Amino acid sequence: MTYETILTETRGRVGWITLNRPNALNALNTTLMSEVVEAAEAFDVDPGIGAIVVTGSAKAFAAGADIKEMEAKTSVEMIVDDHFGAWSRFAAVRTPTIAAVAGYALGGGCELALMCDLVIAADSARFGQPEITLGVIPGMGGSQRLARAIGSYKTADLILTGRTMDAAEAERAGIVSRVLPADRLLDEVADIAEGIAAKPLPALYAATAALDTALETPLAEGLRFEKQAFAALFATEDQKEGMAAFREKREPRFRHR
Ligand code: HXC
Repeated sequence: MTYETILTETRGRVGWITLNRPNALNALNTTLMSEVVEAAEAFDVDPGIGAIVVTGSAKAFAAGADIKEMEAKTSVEMIVDDHFGAWSRFAAVRTPTIAAVAGYALGGGCELALMCDLVIAADSARFGQPEITLGVIPGMGGSQRLARAIGSYKTADLILTGRTMDAAEAERAGIVSRVLPADRLLDEVADIAEGIAAKPLPALYAATAALDTALETPLAEGLRFEKQAFAALFATEDQKEGMAAFREKREPRFRHR
């Protein structure tokens, strides 16, 4: 499939999406949004794919929503067209998603990373929600996902001042899973993604659903969901195989992977 603003590639069981608008620091325009969502959904329904990586360039993961594209919009257009609405389809992907972030992840770029299950950052990464400097606020989940992930005080510091955090601060705050040297980012993310994609799909899907549930529900409801999902996995061949392989001291041969 040929896209205008992204590159896609399948490597083994991993689907790669590389944002590719170098002249605009990968600003998220509507074409890019549609293409990322289409590519992610295509990988998501493919049982040959067990992990999806989203990455950008060395300079920018993405410098935010495309300011030039949205500048002249009216409030009514934003509401009626649901201008950024398709991103919720990216967030709903069941396959584990990994953001491999180097350089700027600002505004919608930071929010796109936050929609992924893992955020692996190069030491060159900078995260921020600078929308306030443009007279707006985050609109793709920044205020909500950040507040849940790192607390309201740290979130307020980012959203009200518009300042950025480097990778080390972002890791300490809790929105970065791991920080890696920039020159090793893509190789190490490839290893991490392959390791995830080698796990059985039914358990991977249950795990991402449980993680989403943790963010979306009160604790008692989340614990009920987890218990049900855990029990349901005992109906899978992969659970029998995984536990038999442990007992027999051998590598599991998962069927659904
Ligand atoms: C459109 C952008 C862009 C953006 C950069 N560019 N960010 N175009 N939308 N978000 C373009 C620049 O206009 C420029 O094009 C080219 O990319 C290179 O950018 P420079 O500014 O020249 O690079 P540099 O000096 O290195 O500065 C990098 C930067 C700066 C600090 C990241 O570009 C910047 O501040 N960008 C905007 C960041 C931002 O405010 N993001 C939040 C957007 S609002 P030309 O043609 O001039 O060479 C948002 C809302 C999300 O994301 C909510 C959705 C509902």
